[in-house]
Amino acid sequence: MKIAVLAGDGIGPEIVAQAVAVLEALKLPLQLEYALVGGAAYEALGHPLPEATLEICQRADAILFGAVGDWKYDSLERKLRPEQAILGLRKHFGLFANFRPAILYPELANASSLKPEIVSGLDILIIRELTGDIYFGQPRGRRAASDGEFDGATEAFDTMRYSEPEIRRIAHVAFKAARKRSKRLTSVDKANVLETFQFWKEIMIEVSKEYPDVALDHMYVDNAAMQLVKAPKNFDVIVTGNMFGDILSDEAAMLTGSIGMLPSASLNTKSFGLYEPSHGSAPDIAGQGIANPLATILSAAMMLRYTFNNSLGATTIEVAVKQVLAQGLRTADIFQAGAGTTKVGTVEMGQAVVEAINGIMKKT
Ligand code: IPM
Ligand code: MG
Repeated sequence: MKIAVLAGDGIGPEIVAQAVAVLEALKLPLQLEYALVGGAAYEALGHPLPEATLEICQRADAILFGAVGDWKYDSLERKLRPEQAILGLRKHFGLFANFRPAILYPELANASSLKPEIVSGLDILIIRELTGDIYFGQPRGRRAASDGEFDGATEAFDTMRYSEPEIRRIAHVAFKAARKRSKRLTSVDKANVLETFQFWKEIMIEVSKEYPDVALDHMYVDNAAMQLVKAPKNFDVIVTGNMFGDILSDEAAMLTGSIGMLPSASLNTKSFGLYEPSHGSAPDIAGQGIANPLATILSAAMMLRYTFNNSLGATTIEVAVKQVLAQGLRTADIFQAGAGTTKVGTVEMGQAVVEAINGIMKKT
């Protein structure tokens, strides 16, 4: 099992170390190769996604990714910014299918900003197209005024764009995922305004004919944003484009109380995948040992399931995480003073999951 480990910036190294410890606890034949990415790579090698890092990823079956970014790089030109590393990896490996589950663990029902009756039992899956849309559309740039009145640019533009095959392949991924769950799929678009998403909707309807057992419905993105806080449990699987998916997945994540809990998988047409927490690099708490490692640990579980076809290993990690939550262990982001809960740091949380895994493995 060849895994490229790209810890990145901010809290990245701390949380990734715990996910690695968890994978090691499962006694799998791991071959880990570490590489620099993001701001850390820029500092050392002058580029956020150096050739050497790409080569290590290319040799691997999967990438375990921490997070990239720091405010101190805000003034860098766009192509050198840490975010370009993750966008570059997505594009380079064709990681078009992004799975972002939002699950509310019963122990954390009070951590949500919504009333327990609205969110308890929440279990939705957002499938975000990840290599198209306005993120990658051309042309993009800045234009100066034609009359030469200003020296600098007077307008900036990006292009929203989807091709038929791009929509079709994410549609198939989404219908297949819905088929394995409640057989309900909501496609989120802005077909009332945008040509791109009128096209998106038409292709979704066409592909749906191949999945007569899955009920497809359509929702405009503004309404979807509202429904997610009004009645989130009405959703099961959501499929949407890159930009809308970016926004809605953060919103869905917060329904569960903390973005620190949510994993993600970005997959291509083979079993290759990049696995990362849904949250960012959180430079404000980096190095303090207080970040929640569970999103990264659960991303490692997704890696076992999707790339290595090891659902037993994946389930073992997920059960172990539930056990430590049931024991009352909480990092600061999910801590609520109260009966039976203990505030712990990053390492303690990771080690508790390792111990829970050791316990489960002894029994089986
Ligand atoms: C995400 C992030 C990225 C995105 C950034 C860091 C480029 O917000 O993975 O959701 O916009 O896709
Ligand atoms: Mg985002």
